[in-house]
Amino acid sequence: MSEIEVPKGLNGVVVDETAVATTDDSGNLLYRGYRAVELAERVDAADVAYLIVNDRLPSDSERKEFAHKLKEHSGMDGKVSEVMKLLKEKDVMRNLRSIVSLYPYESKDDSDLLLEIAARFPRIISDTFRISRGQEPLEDVDASFSERLYYLFTGKKDAEKARYLNKLLILYMEHEFNASTFALRVTASTLADPVSSIVSALATLKGPLHGGANAEILDFFLGFKDEEEARNYVDEKVASKEKIMGFGHRVYKTRDPRAQFVKEEIRKMDKEAHIFKIAEAIENRMWEKKKVPANLDFYAAIYMHMLGIDQNLYTPLFASSRVYGWIAHYNEQLEGNKIIRPSSRYVGKTGREL
Ligand code: ACO
Repeated sequence: MSEIEVPKGLNGVVVDETAVATTDDSGNLLYRGYRAVELAERVDAADVAYLIVNDRLPSDSERKEFAHKLKEHSGMDGKVSEVMKLLKEKDVMRNLRSIVSLYPYESKDDSDLLLEIAARFPRIISDTFRISRGQEPLEDVDASFSERLYYLFTGKKDAEKARYLNKLLILYMEHEFNASTFALRVTASTLADPVSSIVSALATLKGPLHGGANAEILDFFLGFKDEEEARNYVDEKVASKEKIMGFGHRVYKTRDPRAQFVKEEIRKMDKEAHIFKIAEAIENRMWEKKKVPANLDFYAAIYMHMLGIDQNLYTPLFASSRVYGWIAHYNEQLEGNKIIRPSSRYVGKTGREL
């Protein structure tokens, strides 16, 4: 078989088919054919998770059964709690990756196991975050998917903020062959188990060029006194050819529809907020100087900050949502599986003598 050379980073290379998500000709992100921003506006996040996994929105009885499945795995194994106490680590993504790997799951078949893993994310994240900061874990509450998440991540019950969170959870849920999903598909293609595949995805999501970006945005952001200072920061970064987290995307070269949706939601929350004005100044200057658009993570970081969510939970929150996309891709990969194993062009030494 003759070999084909492809661009670095597989930029623009179609490696397989998917029926889970795509971006249409107008730049809209579609989940199973529905516009993601429309789902975010009108649908419950648990229903969208069901849609992504099952290719249809749930009936009433399916909705109840799905909620029951997610809720029945919301407890915490006592021995795992002990492990969490031994971990001195405050990096929630690192702990999530470790705990997801070692958790003694109850499910016997792969389909149940995939859902059980996803269902356990919020509690693992909440417990490891709180334990590592010397706080008592929270018990789960009987509420909607986003209300439960909002409570577990903040310790507060707030139906309005949970409604805002619902939208972000939906926008984070799926994005075809992004890096973490591709990593999951590579692992699944070797016929490794669901836990290993999801751990691969988590490890990949952690990087600052992918899901880790949202955790780094506030670091530079909150220090700006005014818009002028923010614009100067952009100018300096552009001049030194450094990247600014929260900008650029492999798919969206002029506009990330998810970022613009979240921006409008922030405007509804508080258009006079200092942080919002700084954000717009940075976004406009980046466009002026580099023609690089803000991505979802840029406005999501501001949004989560305004919702009172701790910065250490931004990437884990992304993971709690994207895990439903990973499930769909795990199943799709195994439907027509072929091991993903590319070739390389060797540029090392040859013919060395011992
Ligand atoms: N800051 C400044 N310039 C940027 C940025 C940025 N964040 N992103 C892209 N550019 C510029 C590049 O310097 C390059 O310019 P050049 O042609 O003058 O050299 C051009 O835009 C193309 O950028 P690439 O890095 O080649 O684009 P690629 O598709 O390979 O990378 C990526 C996409 C990794 C997301 C990149 O834009 C980036 O590193 N962004 C910052 C990290 C980030 O925000 N990640 C979150 C992604 S969204 C998500 O995971 C939900």
